[in-house]
Amino acid sequence: MEAKELLKLANLNKWYDGLHALQDVSLTIGEGEVVALVGDNGAGKSTLVKIISGAQGSDEGEIYLKGKPVTVSSPKDASNLGIAALHQSLGLVGSLNVFENIFLGREETRSIGPIKVLDKKKMRERAIELLGELAIDVPRLGVPVLSMSGGQRQCVAISRLLLDQVNLILMDEPMAALGVAEGQKVLDLIERLKEKGVSVLIISHNLEHVFSIADRIAVLKNGRMVGTVSPKNSSRSDVVRMITTGEGAGPEGAAQ
Ligand SMILES: Nc1ncnc2c1ncn2[C@@H]1O[C@H](COP(=O)(O)OP(=O)(O)OP(=O)(O)O)[C@@H](O)[C@H]1O
Ligand SMILES: [Mg+2]
Repeated sequence: MEAKELLKLANLNKWYDGLHALQDVSLTIGEGEVVALVGDNGAGKSTLVKIISGAQGSDEGEIYLKGKPVTVSSPKDASNLGIAALHQSLGLVGSLNVFENIFLGREETRSIGPIKVLDKKKMRERAIELLGELAIDVPRLGVPVLSMSGGQRQCVAISRLLLDQVNLILMDEPMAALGVAEGQKVLDLIERLKEKGVSVLIISHNLEHVFSIADRIAVLKNGRMVGTVSPKNSSRSDVVRMITTGEGAGPEGAAQ
């Protein structure tokens, strides 16, 4: 693998009662690398992402960050390690505007004598800066996000994640509910994140998106890692075959 290793998952196992949802799953993600995680419904994709984001624990296996073993037993642990998850609900408050949402729970304040007040100017400026860095075009920062399109809301939610130092962003089907143009906005944003050196693990059923954005594609089937391939060396039908048969791509397709 060309990129320097950021995250390594080694032999993760997860059981839900009798169901072996993840079976010895290993995967590495490089710095600034976009890895797409694909597989049929129930393959274990969301489970894997939940484990990395600290939303759920694994039963066996190790997680390494830059070569060091780490424990991710809560979203707080993940956040301290620079791992952020974009949830389907996005975690935005519809009635608040763009910069209020970005700073929600982390508001900037200033002092007027002994009194602390919200520093709206500072938050607004930082939000504009952040959105500018990501080339996000949000025309009206002052309106409630409720009135914005799905894609714009996704972009605001992603900007919010970037307020902290972040190494890896996990996305579980971020484009699923978006139209073509809106989905493209999110793809562009992922490209921008990559340029900033942020790694992305993205779950998607849309192979067109996956092939346009991913440096590597990891295929899960029935809780097992079938293999990873590079979109440069593999075709969509190769990946579909891996998803459906659970058989690897062979030596020239296997990128790991
Ligand atoms: N909280 C849970 N309790 C019990 N079983 C679960 C739980 N979460 C997931 N599972 C089971 O684990 C397996 C993997 O589920 P997971 O949600 O990870 O699949 P997925 O690959 O994300 O599928 P999809 O593409 O449909 O989102 C499935 O069989 C699912 O029914
Ligand atoms: Mg899922």
